[in-house]
Amino acid sequence: MCNNHLKPRPYRLLSIKKESFTECTFRLECDHTPVIGQFYEVSLPRVGEMPISISGIGSGWLDMTIRAVGHVSTAVHTLKPGDNIFLRGPYGNGFPMAEMEGKHIIIAAGGCGVSPIRPIIEHFYNHPEKITAMDLLFGFKDPSLVLFNQDIDRWKEKFNTIITVDQSCSTWEGKNVGLITEYVKQVKIPDFQNMEVIIVGPPIMMKFTAQEFIKHGVASERIIVSMERRMSCGVGKCGHCKVGDKYVCLDGPVFRYDQAQLLID
Ligand SMILES: Cc1cc2nc3c(=O)[nH]c(=O)nc-3n(C[C@H](O)[C@H](O)[C@H](O)COP(=O)(O)OP(=O)(O)OC[C@H]3O[C@@H](n4cnc5c(N)ncnc54)[C@H](O)[C@@H]3O)c2cc1C
Ligand code: FES
Repeated sequence: MCNNHLKPRPYRLLSIKKESFTECTFRLECDHTPVIGQFYEVSLPRVGEMPISISGIGSGWLDMTIRAVGHVSTAVHTLKPGDNIFLRGPYGNGFPMAEMEGKHIIIAAGGCGVSPIRPIIEHFYNHPEKITAMDLLFGFKDPSLVLFNQDIDRWKEKFNTIITVDQSCSTWEGKNVGLITEYVKQVKIPDFQNMEVIIVGPPIMMKFTAQEFIKHGVASERIIVSMERRMSCGVGKCGHCKVGDKYVCLDGPVFRYDQAQLLID
């Protein structure tokens, strides 16, 4: 039998959770075990296809957190539990989970960038003995766009967690206001050798946050980023995601910053 990995297959939606004004988490019935940080090409017949990261992995299910921004993503937001959504993948390399073990992990994520790193945090939340410490630094545009509120409350029990919003308002219960880069100095880094910094968010946020960590003594090869590019095939054939000699869909989307800084605009 031909197992065509480019053919989209239907998966049943188990539940849909509203995270913010524009984002929902879609839980699909799926027994894949992707590497954390990989992505799928998600499609609806006669609508189109888009790359989406995995925001949660469990026994018999996968989560994807999708922002309604355009044609396909808005159509996905009209689905109901029980409907089918189509996937091909998983594609890409994923995060180097084994290399993180025994180290101090610092995660800085902005906006939708919290989605692909959520499974890393869950993994070490469930296995805190595998790392020496974890610091979480999250930035969102405004309080209405904070994702995974309940998860963040739980993560705070085990990990030093800083959340900031670019613009505050009367509903903001947190104490931090301002760009994520302003809070890098609040993260104490005891051992520059035995650490990994993971930065995921819009390209400009990744660039300036990485520069801030480098200013504080972190080597660029200790920094890991995950990149988003316009994609089509997802498997290194069409060239849509090619930057320089790298295919983001195939060589990435996860890169060490010493490689990625040449690819970030
Ligand atoms: C590896 C990877 C992982 C991703 N993971 C997620 C995720 O977990 N959750 C999520 O909500 N989104 C994610 N995205 C972004 C998502 O793929 C796009 O938002 C999606 O393609 C929009 O499709 P659409 O048909 O709804 O929008 P379109 O109608 O195609 O476009 C709507 C608007 O978004 C812009 N746009 C589309 N794609 C991109 C892109 N890749 N980068 C910047 N601008 C874009 C367009 O220029 C346009 O302005 C990921 C992208 C990549 C490459
Ligand atoms: S999306 Fe086609 S080569 Fe990367």
